[in-house]
Amino acid sequence: MKIMVSGKGGSGKSTVAALLARALARQGRDVLLVDADESNFGLSRLAGAETPEILLENLGGRAGVREKMNSASDANLIPIINRPFTMAEIPAACLTEASGVKVLVMGKVKHFGEGCACMIGALTKRFLSNLEAPADAFVIVDTEAGVEHFGRGVDGATNLILAVVDPTFESILMAGKLAEMAAQAGVALKLVLNKTDLRIEAALRAKLKPEDIAAVIPQDDALFLDSLEGRALSAEPPALTELARFVSTFGETSRAASTAAPPPFRTLK
Ligand SMILES: Nc1ncnc2c1ncn2[C@@H]1O[C@H](COP(=O)(O)OP(=O)(O)OP(=O)(O)O)[C@@H](O)[C@H]1O
Ligand SMILES: [Mg+2]
Repeated sequence: MKIMVSGKGGSGKSTVAALLARALARQGRDVLLVDADESNFGLSRLAGAETPEILLENLGGRAGVREKMNSASDANLIPIINRPFTMAEIPAACLTEASGVKVLVMGKVKHFGEGCACMIGALTKRFLSNLEAPADAFVIVDTEAGVEHFGRGVDGATNLILAVVDPTFESILMAGKLAEMAAQAGVALKLVLNKTDLRIEAALRAKLKPEDIAAVIPQDDALFLDSLEGRALSAEPPALTELARFVSTFGETSRAASTAAPPPFRTLK
């Protein structure tokens, strides 16, 4: 199951992605945590893993990947870029691991004038569409702030979008926008309320539909301090164990629904 974590800047996407990945691994799942945010560097550190070689660079950089995307023919299909691939085909240098979570970094804009991030979005979309992960494994994708990854079609390659909502009006507006776009893409979206206390939770709930809320994560100074000090996240908030259970059940239910669905109608000639 492929899960994209979205939301407003600073709402807690990377924190939620790293903690959810770890909580799923604790529950015995295979987990790949994908850093698809082209500007921030911190996800592997939050997960407690070394930073791996960047996939875009391993595959030849922007120019090399563009060339491979454009020159594909039946004879030279390249895994990840233009043909389906398995976890075993990911270059080993591009994976690090901590607490049972594998970490992969898609691409980063490192230098002024390097060009836009479109190529990183395009590679992320191909990576997610072509990755043949076992049905009970989880791929958790941390994205950049805002809705740009929707414009690039990354959403369509995922099974579930988690929109992180922090206690700001902008975050609520952004969640509404994300829900609209997810509906257009035909992908389920659930909300994760973050940085709450009892009063904040009640105020947020008053503005949102209860059935859309998958988890509520309280404000937790330990998380904040780990991030401030540049350490791996040490807290294991119970809300994340619940969120991990929620996504596991969601995955099982959607798998059962897709197996139970009748085969597509075909006209006999
Ligand atoms: N539940 C929480 N309790 C306390 N602090 C939190 C919580 N969740 C996130 N934070 C803090 O909020 C800040 C932003 O978190 P994070 O980097 O995960 O957000 P983000 O949405 O990934 O940001 P960006 O848009 O820049 O990628 C960090 O300082 C982080 O420690
Ligand atoms: Mg982030």
